Amino acid sequence: MTQTTPEAPVRRQRAQVKVRTLRTDRWWLAPLVTFLGLSSFLVYGVWAIIDNTYFVDPYIAPFASPCLASSCPEGARLFGWAPFGDWYTLPPGLLILGLPGGFRLTCYYYRKSYYRSFWLSPPACAVQEPHGKYTGERRFPLILQNIHRYFFYAAILIGLVLAYDAVLALIHKPQGLGTWILVINAVLINMYTLSCHSCRHITAGRLNHFSRHPLRYRAWTFVSKLNAKHQQLAWASMFSVMIADFYVRMVAKGIIAFPFA
Ligand code: FES
Repeated sequence: MTQTTPEAPVRRQRAQVKVRTLRTDRWWLAPLVTFLGLSSFLVYGVWAIIDNTYFVDPYIAPFASPCLASSCPEGARLFGWAPFGDWYTLPPGLLILGLPGGFRLTCYYYRKSYYRSFWLSPPACAVQEPHGKYTGERRFPLILQNIHRYFFYAAILIGLVLAYDAVLALIHKPQGLGTWILVINAVLINMYTLSCHSCRHITAGRLNHFSRHPLRYRAWTFVSKLNAKHQQLAWASMFSVMIADFYVRMVAKGIIAFPFA
């Protein structure tokens, strides 16, 4: 009787590819466009924070809203409120920048996009990254990305303030082009906020029985539909907030001054 010896297990190894990628398509285009888009947002944001012309009644530039410093013009203050007193002399936008900025910075979609386009980690599927080691988001500082949910709560408030600004503009200048730019921006910002993955989890993430929570199920269904468009909403709201902010500043500076501005 012959005995068969068990076959040695096949050791699977990565293919030893000498080049960085075998892809022949334009894989670099998406990270490049993302890099340019996000960079333009950063550059614009720095300028907007420094620029001091952010209010022309009834419009307030979104990057400066809510305006909470005592240097804010009377009509620009949220409910006439100036909680920081006279000791704060820096630009008003700096006071709130961390909330919407932190929300976008820790967003799941933006993380993917800037990991790929800025850190090249990796720049695209099947393209080798330049880094020798990968530690994910398990260590400082990237472990801080986990506070995204808390930024979401703050972003809800910011979204409500922008909606309030748009309603004020609608009441006082319903025919103004700036009004409708602010309205569109408020809608997109709030849709982006509600499409957040954290929002989807908060609405019904840990439920075992949807049938016992019909309202949460309906909310979850709505948020899930928005969530499927999260990437598009991230870009649309990013450009809408830049356009709305720039438009209000141009009107405030007198550069745009046609009758329905
Ligand atoms: Fe993008 Fe929350 S995942 S805003």
